[in-house]
This record gives sequence, structure tokens and C-alpha cells, in this order.
Amino acid sequence: MTERPRILVTRKITDPAEARLQDLFDARLNPEDRTYSADDLIALADGMDGLLVAAGDPINAKVIAALADSVRIIATLSVGHEHIDLDAARARGIPVTTTPGVLDNATAEMAMMLMLCAARRANEGFRLVREDRWKGWTPTMLLGTEVTGKRLGIVGMGRIGQAVARMAKGFSMAVHYHNRSRLTPELENGSIFHEEVDSLLAVSDFLSLNCPLTPETTGFLNAEKIAKLPDGAVVVNTARGAVVDDDALIAALRSGKLGAAGLDVFTGEPAANPAYRGLDNVFVMPHLGSATHEARDAMGFKCAENLLAVFEGREPPDRVA
Ligand code: DGY
Repeated sequence: MTERPRILVTRKITDPAEARLQDLFDARLNPEDRTYSADDLIALADGMDGLLVAAGDPINAKVIAALADSVRIIATLSVGHEHIDLDAARARGIPVTTTPGVLDNATAEMAMMLMLCAARRANEGFRLVREDRWKGWTPTMLLGTEVTGKRLGIVGMGRIGQAVARMAKGFSMAVHYHNRSRLTPELENGSIFHEEVDSLLAVSDFLSLNCPLTPETTGFLNAEKIAKLPDGAVVVNTARGAVVDDDALIAALRSGKLGAAGLDVFTGEPAANPAYRGLDNVFVMPHLGSATHEARDAMGFKCAENLLAVFEGREPPDRVA
């Protein structure tokens, strides 16, 4: 019997995905879901043909430089790849793959949930009931803002941004977007393109951040840009925490310039800026955008496909480096 390729799976992933990996490969799983340090990763990668990593794993230049020569692919269980030094991987000739196209609906649902929960004061209402402080229905209790019919600005109209647009149209929202390039009319599907960010901000009653984290988008939503949003606008972030300047966002939520925010991602996760915890007009989630059975199984299967392609000498379908 020929030996099966050996892979290291750095996190506990879903049972169906692990079963697929075990069918195809000699997979070293992480059933206890230990978080591996850079040194752990280097040591554990010894003798492996491939690595299946995840957001938060420090696949930096030092780790990549020290990986065993046996490692022929790094497949990440994410669409974001800011935790991997792509240049270092290119320098070693190790392909890096992601999981596009299978988490768009899950992440877009989260963006819609954040919009609805932020606009309808879910944080305050939830706590009132859970903490047994609700004294009864009143005509003016916790009045929020309707999402229906409002203008939604989407920053980053990739697959996830497009899924947000589709769902938002179900709420009769007028969708506007800014993207590096304009979409085809078919993909645009009635959404309005803004070449300039400022003109998008000016019409965004709701603003959804759906761009990747890059040097260009780091700190994108700063005080200057927030000032250009309509007063009382609602900001939601399912992209990456660092796309937002936390101090600027917190100041605008405190001053009332912004009505509310819904945040699924934070700079320095799992620690979030503690000021968010003290703000009633912030609805927070712990980076659950793609956390559905459907998406996480499919993400694992995509990693398996990419690993298999490399081991069979084919170009992996979801290569980013
Ligand atoms: C992604 O795919 O990038 C999700 O945010 C999970 O990390």
C-alpha cells in the first residue's frame, strides 16, 4: 500500500471535514483544539506534506522559513489570509490556498444580523429580559431604526459583499458600493457603484465593511471617514477588526454621530477594545461570520480539495500565493 500524504490540521474542525481528511490523508488532528505557538507549528510540521491552518495561526515569515522541506502546501480554513506571510511562502515555493465561495451566505447573514440587531437595539433588549429588568411593554421603550428601505453602503463588493447586497435587497434597501473595480451589470444587479469612497459614505445610512484586510484597508474607517457618514448611521463589520480605527469608532458611538454598530471582528481578538463592552449601542459577536455547519464543513472540504490537488501534482483551485 502506498503511503498517504501526511497533513497537520492545526485546529479542531468539523467532524465531516475531519472524516474527509482522514479518508484522503494521514491526518494529524487536534481534537483538544490546542492553540499552537510558532514554535509548536514548526515542530509539528516536521515530516508533514501539508498544513491545514486557520485564522489566528501565526504563519509568519519566521515560521515559514523554518518549515520542514517536506511541506508542499499551506491550506487555510478561511478566506482571510492576513495570518500568513504570502511573500515568505512564495519565497519557499509553498502554495497557499484559501476557501472562497463557500462562506458568503453565512458571513452575509451575519452582516444582516448585525445590521438588524444594532438598528433594533438587540443588545439592550436582550439584557433587559435576561437580567430580569423588564417592567412591561411601553409605547416608547427601546425605539430603534428600521432597516427596510434605507441606503446601504458596502465597502468591498467581492463574493461576500455581493451576498450582503442580495440579502439587503430582500429588505428593500437601496444598495450602494465601493470596490477597486466596478462589477459587471449582471453582478451589480442594480447596486450603485461609487468610484470615490467619500460619495459612498455620504449616502450610507448603513455601512457594511466587507473588504479584505490589506495595508490599504488597515484603519480604513477613521474619524475623517466617519465624519462623512450621515448622522446616526449604523456601521457593521464582518471583515477584520483592523479595518476600523477603534478609537474613532468608539468616539463617534459615544458622541451620537453614529447611531449604532454591529461588530463580529476586533483588533487583537479575542481581546476587543474594552470600551465596546460599555456601549449600549454596540452589538457584538465573537467572530462567528462563517460559523455555520454548512460553511465550516464546506471550508474543510475545500481545504481537502486543495491539499489533494497539490499532492496529485495539479494546480490547487483556490491558490492565493
Ligand atoms: C474567514 O474565512 O476569513 C473567516 O473570517 C474565518 O477566519
